[in-house]
Amino acid sequence: MMLTLSLIAFIAVVSGRTITYPIDDSVGLERRFDGIGGLSGGGATSKLLVNYPKKQRDEILDYLFKPNFGASLQILKVEIGGDSQSTDGTEASHMHEPWDENYQRGYEWWVMTEAKKRNPNIKLYGLPWAWPGWIGDGSPISPYKNVSMAASYIVKWILGAKQYHNLAIDYVGIWNERPYNIPYILMLRKMLDFHNLTSVRIVASDSGWAISDDILRDSQLASAVDIIGVHYPGTTTIASAMKTGKQLWSSEDYSTFNDNVGAGCWARILNQNYVNGFMTSTLSWNLIASYYNALPFAGDGLMTAIEPWSGFYSVRSPIWITAHTTQFTQIGWMYLRHGAGVGKLESGGSYVSLVSPDSKDLTIIIETMSHDHSVCIRPALPPYTVNATTIEIQLKGSFAKVKELYLWYSKLGFNGTQTSLFEQRKPVAVTNGLFKLSMGLDEVYTFTTLNVGQKGSYPSPPVSKPFPDYYFDDFNTYRSNMEPSNFAQQLGVYEVVDVGDAHRGVMRQTMQHHPVAWCKAENLNVTINVIGNHKWSDIYVEAEMRLGPVNASDGVFLAARIDQGGCYTFKTKGIFFFIYPNKQIYVLANDLAQTQTIIKGNIPQVQKGWNKVSLLIEMGKVTGSINGQQIFKVDVPKKPKNGFVGLGTDSWGIADFDNFLIKNASSHQANNFNRNNILRFVPKHG
Ligand SMILES: *[C@@H]1O[C@H](CO)[C@@H](O)[C@H](O)[C@H]1NC(C)=O
Ligand SMILES: *[C@@H]1O[C@H](CO)[C@@H](O)[C@H](O)[C@H]1NC(C)=O
Ligand SMILES: *[C@@H]1O[C@H](CO)[C@@H](O)[C@H](O)[C@H]1NC(C)=O
Ligand SMILES: *[C@@H]1O[C@H](CO)[C@@H](O)[C@H](O)[C@H]1NC(C)=O
Ligand SMILES: *[C@@H]1O[C@H](CO)[C@@H](O)[C@H](O)[C@H]1NC(C)=O
Ligand SMILES: *[C@@H]1O[C@H](CO)[C@@H](O)[C@H](O)[C@H]1NC(C)=O
Ligand SMILES: *[C@@H]1O[C@H](CO)[C@@H](O)[C@H](O)[C@H]1NC(C)=O
Repeated sequence: MMLTLSLIAFIAVVSGRTITYPIDDSVGLERRFDGIGGLSGGGATSKLLVNYPKKQRDEILDYLFKPNFGASLQILKVEIGGDSQSTDGTEASHMHEPWDENYQRGYEWWVMTEAKKRNPNIKLYGLPWAWPGWIGDGSPISPYKNVSMAASYIVKWILGAKQYHNLAIDYVGIWNERPYNIPYILMLRKMLDFHNLTSVRIVASDSGWAISDDILRDSQLASAVDIIGVHYPGTTTIASAMKTGKQLWSSEDYSTFNDNVGAGCWARILNQNYVNGFMTSTLSWNLIASYYNALPFAGDGLMTAIEPWSGFYSVRSPIWITAHTTQFTQIGWMYLRHGAGVGKLESGGSYVSLVSPDSKDLTIIIETMSHDHSVCIRPALPPYTVNATTIEIQLKGSFAKVKELYLWYSKLGFNGTQTSLFEQRKPVAVTNGLFKLSMGLDEVYTFTTLNVGQKGSYPSPPVSKPFPDYYFDDFNTYRSNMEPSNFAQQLGVYEVVDVGDAHRGVMRQTMQHHPVAWCKAENLNVTINVIGNHKWSDIYVEAEMRLGPVNASDGVFLAARIDQGGCYTFKTKGIFFFIYPNKQIYVLANDLAQTQTIIKGNIPQVQKGWNKVSLLIEMGKVTGSINGQQIFKVDVPKKPKNGFVGLGTDSWGIADFDNFLIKNASSHQANNFNRNNILRFVPKHG
């Protein structure tokens, strides 16, 4: 399995007890470095970032994207929204229907624009997780029934990025962690070329290595695919992938809580994806953990920002681990050869060396992460120990005459040992190309000829606060098609629509058909949008709602104690108050699927148009009202004990929601709602 390494003589030399590692470009260079990046989406992972106060939001974006400041990312990958649940929510498609086209939805355009503003050289990469139903052409499980339809849909997204946001997309993928289809890939290449998008490179297939064998067999496919991108490769590759001669990427990796354990794993894969697997780009899932903690994979981002209402955010250690590589390299730099600047340390750990295309600059990154916390390497590497050691580094070739190297250092502390993150240390003196280095465990060192590093910082953000227990949104201050702030849609797609009458802006559920889904979340054919504090148990929530004027859903609901989101949303439990205005009935259910009905009955007082619906959970009772009239007051079901509040539709189809209000249960009677507590920040896009 470990190919090529055996072809290259291991040149480390033992002198006394100190091992000498040569760093030498005179023996030739190896692969082109393609950059380190993060993934916004897959899905809805940047949701809560969007409506942060501008000051904190700009700071966060600087930590992620600003060159020589923080993570200084070199690639940004985003989800091409597909109207379907894709892990932490749904992201809107630019074409809900074949006749619909809109390039203002969601926030990925905005994330890309902010990244480019800070780093015009950042590369952009788009990938669909799911597809709107019409792409399935009758199939709810495959987008490939009509490959020209699917390819044209993706090409429109790329053209729209340019036309509406002046964003040039560099890379496009196939279908996230789902089967690829060769006729589709060939059609995509053909259509890209037809639209003069020859510079857009295809990455395939954002899954396992299987496509390598097809590339070897099929020369047309080989010329269509530029990069083999795999997910969670465990740092290793396979022989047929090497044989294709393609650049190899870990196009999704990491997915680990962003404490020091996660950071240690990130440090290891950033080096070892190249050392063991010749992969020249590694992308973190995800870019930033900006989704409610009660949703799946809490904290699996390079940093965390989940409180737009307070402005609090947390710069986590993976940001600084990233900086060790990104602040001292550029896309297009070259890796030195295995054994001449790239390899494993005898005492455990690894090193990589990269040189600028003009051979003037050199960066060496060494990590000594101990393997007992290799949580993010899937499948896990065989365990091995890492020991403190002293090594010698011998610069040769273009760098033989270097007199000193700048040094940046991190140590990840565990069980009480101290953490240091991205500290600049005194430059090391190099004598006759040689210097010595004594290393401990869980450390990262960057030695570089570049004097450009900076540990960017801002004053501490405002203190952390829970979601406010007074909250109101009339949806009147958004631009059309924006996704309302703080609402985390789990099924369906909600956007602000100006309905023109006294209601003006309303939040509309727009999806009319089952998507070509990414997981089973949509199986119930209902939609749900959650908000608030998952710890809430007693709470008051109210909204005006109506079935859509055309293509309406069958029913609408208001809910509390919603226990979960993500791909298991179809199993969600909570307290759901469904109303069916056409049938004049209601159902109070203990689950979204309505398998456990608490009470149901007739509601002759329900209007055909707007109804004000409320749900109060207080002191063991749940009370539901329509237009101020109490419909039921029953015992609160035993489970769940707490959860989000939210709303949604029964069946696909249009429904409108307005004047959404949350109040603390114990104060809802007092009518002391204070408008100063309205927390809503409307992001300025573009
Ligand atoms: C595929 O979709 C296109 C529209 O994008 C249509 O013109 C074409 O007829 C369809 N092909 C088939 C085989 O249905
Ligand atoms: C592609 O570029 C050529 C040459 O500039 C131009 O004639 C053609 O119309 C372009 N095609 C499209 C689809 O934009
Ligand atoms: C680390 O030290 C232990 C104890 O001396 C030894 O058994 C082990 O082989 C060493 N590991 C490496 C990679 O040097
Ligand atoms: C921390 O200490 C505990 C208890 O001794 C041990 O099980 C664990 O592996 C240690 N963690 C790390 C990361 O060293
Ligand atoms: C949901 O819709 C899909 C596609 O129309 C259908 O196959 C499925 O049976 C529906 N599921 C339920 C629970 O109605
Ligand atoms: C309603 O559905 C019909 C049939 O799919 C479609 O032609 C029409 O455009 C839809 N109207 C709206 C407002 O979505
Ligand atoms: C609701 O308000 C009461 C009275 O102001 C307060 O004691 C309680 O902590 C509040 N509950 C929540 C969940 O904030």
